[in-house]
Amino acid sequence: MSVLSNERPIGFIDSGVGGLTVVKEAMRQLPNEEILYLGDTARCPYGPRPAEQVIEFTWQMTRFLLKKNIKMLVIACNTATAVALEEIKKNVDIPVIGVIQPGSRAALKASKTGRVGIIGTLGTIKSDSYRHELHEKAPDTYVSSLACPKFVPIVESNQYNSSVAKKVVSQTLLPLKKEKLDTLILGCTHYPLLRPVIQNAIGQQVTLIDSGAETVSDVSALLDYFNLNNYEQTAKTKTFYTTGSPKMFKDIAGEWLNITDLNVEHIDLGGE
Ligand code: DGL
Repeated sequence: MSVLSNERPIGFIDSGVGGLTVVKEAMRQLPNEEILYLGDTARCPYGPRPAEQVIEFTWQMTRFLLKKNIKMLVIACNTATAVALEEIKKNVDIPVIGVIQPGSRAALKASKTGRVGIIGTLGTIKSDSYRHELHEKAPDTYVSSLACPKFVPIVESNQYNSSVAKKVVSQTLLPLKKEKLDTLILGCTHYPLLRPVIQNAIGQQVTLIDSGAETVSDVSALLDYFNLNNYEQTAKTKTFYTTGSPKMFKDIAGEWLNITDLNVEHIDLGGE
């Protein structure tokens, strides 16, 4: 395969297993593409970390995948998108896409009342990136945001179907219930694994927006725009790297993606 071939993989990065919600959608919409995924599980969560550190870690993941000759990078993590997308975009010579713009656009399209909620990590909510995106496009939108720092550890420990998950989610979302929202952005790629629990807690009348899944439509458009589609009709490989335990990663990813013989490798990122 040449260094510029369209058969090169698309790279996905996240602090852990959250970006798999984006990969799941990519496998559905872009079955012809090879996928490389890197989850920095050992240093998850990124949410409570200072922005400078998240930027440094995101660069380490990016460099690792660039060495694997990816043709496009998807920052499948809202926390990293919020603080590192612009800098990485400017400094690498492949297309780079984050999850916040596509999620905001989908929320504006879905909302009828203009009352939109955002849930995300501490870092994402503190950055105010979603509010900024929403108001840039539709200044009259009412925006209410809430950090949910307890959600990511529940997902990373494979407890997203548990009764603890139900209790924590319903208690955390209480302040949003009186906001009369018609649309709620899942502003963290881990949250779609909790989707049924979140829907139940916030009420069936609220439309949930999965930012990650929305991003894949943009990835598809970018592949067209840059003429990067892989048209080879051969079986495509998917390789998953984790800085944490491959077993835990495999358990969650295997179930979520419905793949039994998942190729998961442990890597260290410090030296990137
Ligand atoms: N999945 C990530 C996001 O979309 C981050 C979770 C975390 O590491 O705190 O923000």
